[in-house]
Amino acid sequence: MNIAIDGPAGAGKSTIAKRVAKELGYIYVDTGAMYRGIALYLLDYDIDIADAAHVEKKIENITIEIKYEEGVQQIYLNGVNVTARLRMEAVGNMASKASQLACVRAKLLHLQRQLARENDVVMDGRDIGTNILPDAEVKVYLTASSKVRAKRRYDEITANGNCADIDTIEADIITRDKQDMERAIAPLRQAEDAVCIDSSDMTIDEVVYHIMKLVSGERL
Ligand code: DC
Repeated sequence: MNIAIDGPAGAGKSTIAKRVAKELGYIYVDTGAMYRGIALYLLDYDIDIADAAHVEKKIENITIEIKYEEGVQQIYLNGVNVTARLRMEAVGNMASKASQLACVRAKLLHLQRQLARENDVVMDGRDIGTNILPDAEVKVYLTASSKVRAKRRYDEITANGNCADIDTIEADIITRDKQDMERAIAPLRQAEDAVCIDSSDMTIDEVVYHIMKLVSGERL
């Protein structure tokens, strides 16, 4: 059984997917973290992503591995655990740009499908229901308004004692949505058989409840 959760940045996919995976005893697969792993490599080695052939050559032999430590997904880049560095804004923005490249997507497609073949998974990303797992038993398109998503991100940053500007965050989110939705290969879009959940006015518990109902076979 596989559950695909797609949606724009900051819609709460990872929080929700983790909770659903825990309730069902499935493995949670954060595919964005894999793209972020490649983005980190491109940033660390200052690789120009405007030159796709160069990127293809550079990433050909890197390894991206996914491991679970105490139930939490860890990303290993060339054998080194880089999970702690993946959440930075610069890495997310680079991941959004790099994920437009065919060679980057091809590198991760196989790994993601293999994980779903070997395990019951809740997998979140942008193209899971449309491209990676078109036969997933349950597909959810999780969204929220850009204002709500910016506010959630702002609260997260300031709760950690850091400063942030909510308008800049919202502008970043809108740019990222546009990039992810308008790219040529496997763009973010709702699969025809996905159920759309707009979490703008919903609590985490409510969203999880809705998805659990879908899993148990009840259409909303
Ligand atoms: O979900 P996230 O913010 O960690 O994802 C970072 C970027 O990676 C996102 O802006 C686009 C890309 N991505 C993708 O193209 N396909 C996926 N399945 C997951 C992420």
